[in-house]
Amino acid sequence: MNAPVHVDARHDAYATAIDQIDVSNPHLYQDDTWRPYFERLRREDPVHWCEKGIYGSYWSVTRYRDIMSVDTNHQAFSSDALMGGIVLRDLPMDFRRPSFISMDPPKHDEQRKTVSPIVAPGNLAKLAHTIRERTGRILDSLPRGETFDWVDRVSVELTTQMLATLFDFPFEERRKLTYWSNIATANTRAGTEVDSEAKRNQILDKALEYFAALWHERAKQPPRPDLISMLAHGEATRDLPSRPHEFMGNIMLLVVGGNDTTRNSMSGSLLALNQYPDEYRKLRANPALVTSMIPEVIRWQTPVIHMRRTALEDTRVAGKTIRKGDKVAMWYISGNRDEDAIERPEDFVIDRARPRQHLSFGFGIHRCVGNRLAEMQLTILWEEILQRDWPMIEVMGPPVRVYSNILRSISALPVRIPA
Ligand code: HEM
Repeated sequence: MNAPVHVDARHDAYATAIDQIDVSNPHLYQDDTWRPYFERLRREDPVHWCEKGIYGSYWSVTRYRDIMSVDTNHQAFSSDALMGGIVLRDLPMDFRRPSFISMDPPKHDEQRKTVSPIVAPGNLAKLAHTIRERTGRILDSLPRGETFDWVDRVSVELTTQMLATLFDFPFEERRKLTYWSNIATANTRAGTEVDSEAKRNQILDKALEYFAALWHERAKQPPRPDLISMLAHGEATRDLPSRPHEFMGNIMLLVVGGNDTTRNSMSGSLLALNQYPDEYRKLRANPALVTSMIPEVIRWQTPVIHMRRTALEDTRVAGKTIRKGDKVAMWYISGNRDEDAIERPEDFVIDRARPRQHLSFGFGIHRCVGNRLAEMQLTILWEEILQRDWPMIEVMGPPVRVYSNILRSISALPVRIPA
C-alpha cells in the first residue's frame, strides 16, 4: 500500500508555476501533502529558487546527492546563528539562541566534543539496561481492548524518561522537559500559547532559571557522567552561564535533539507498520528484522524536515550558482524520497539491503550526535513489543500532525491493542 497522495495536492503541485512553489509552507507538513511538490522539484528543478517564500527568499536542495554535497561543505555553507542559523525563518538578533548546532568550527567542534562522551559505546551499553526495564514497565501498563494515545503514553513518556536520565534531571518533574521542548519548537503561527518570540522567551526564562540552579550545584561537585555536569566542567563550556543566550541555546539543543525526533520516530514506526501490514507480519514472523527496520523507520519518518545553511561564497550546486549570503534549505524529507538514491523510496520496507542509507541524521560535522542512542531506544521498544507477542497494535484514526516545516511531529495517535 502506498502512502496516500492528496489528489488536490498533486494537482496543485503540477498546476502551480514552478517559481511559485514554496515548500517552506508548514501547512504542507501539517496536512501531509508535501510529496508531489518535492517529486516535481526533484524532476524539474532540483536546486530551486523561491523568491517570495513565507520566510523570505531561499534555495531548496531536494536531491539526495546534492543535499550531501551541501551538508558536507561547511566551508561554503555556514550554520552560524549570526548568519541566520539552521532554520529558514530569520529571527531578530535578540531572539537568537546560539548553540553548537548553529556554530561553525572551531567553536562548534570544541563544544560538541564536550558532550559527545554521553553517547560513547560504553555509556550506551550502561543505558540499555535502564531503557529496557522502563520500556517493559510502560508497555505492561498499557490498556488492552481500548483506544489510547500512543504519543502520550509511549513515545513522549519513553523519550522524556531518557532525557531526564541524560541530564540527571529530577525524575518526578520530567514532564517539564517535554513542555519546554514543545515551547522551544512551536511555530508562532500554529495557534499554541507561543504566539510570539517574546512569549517563547518568557516561558523559556523559567527553564533557564531551573537549569542554572542544577548547573551551579553540579559545578561545585566532582564531574559526573550527565549532560549538565559535562557542560559545567567542560573547558569550552564551563563559562556558558555568563552568556545566557548561548547557555539557553545549548541546553535547549540537547532537550529538543533528544526528545522530539526520537518521539516522532516511535510514533512513526507504528504508523508505518499499520500502513504496511505485510511488513508487520514479516516482522512478527522474524523479529531479528528489527535491526534493519529501525533505520528504515527513521528514513521513512524523517523527523527533521529541513536544515538551513547560509552561503559564505558563491558556490555551484547542480548547475545553479548560489550567491554569497543566500539562504539554502536542505530538504532531508525530499532526499529520503529520491528515487535515484533509494529504491521504491515511498514504501516502508523493513528488510532493505542498505537501510542506513538515508539523510535523516544529516552528514558532515553536524551529523547527529545522538543517532546511536535514538536507534537503541527504538530497537529496545520494538524488541520488547515483539516479546509480548501481541497481535497487531492497531492505529484507530489519523495522526494529528503539527504545523512546522522543521520537525515532522505527530502530537497524537489513537491506537488499540486487541484484548
Ligand atoms: C544534530 C536528527 C536524535 C542530539 C542533528 C541533525 C539532525 C538530527 C538532522 C543535524 C544534522 C546536520 O545539520 O547535518 C536526529 C534524528 C534523531 C535524533 C532524526 C532521532 C531519530 C537525537 C538524540 C540526541 C540528539 C537522541 C541527544 C542525545 C543532537 C545534537 C545535534 C544533533 C546535539 C547537533 C550536532 C552538531 O551540531 O554537531 N540531529 N537526531 N539527536 N542531534 Fe540529533
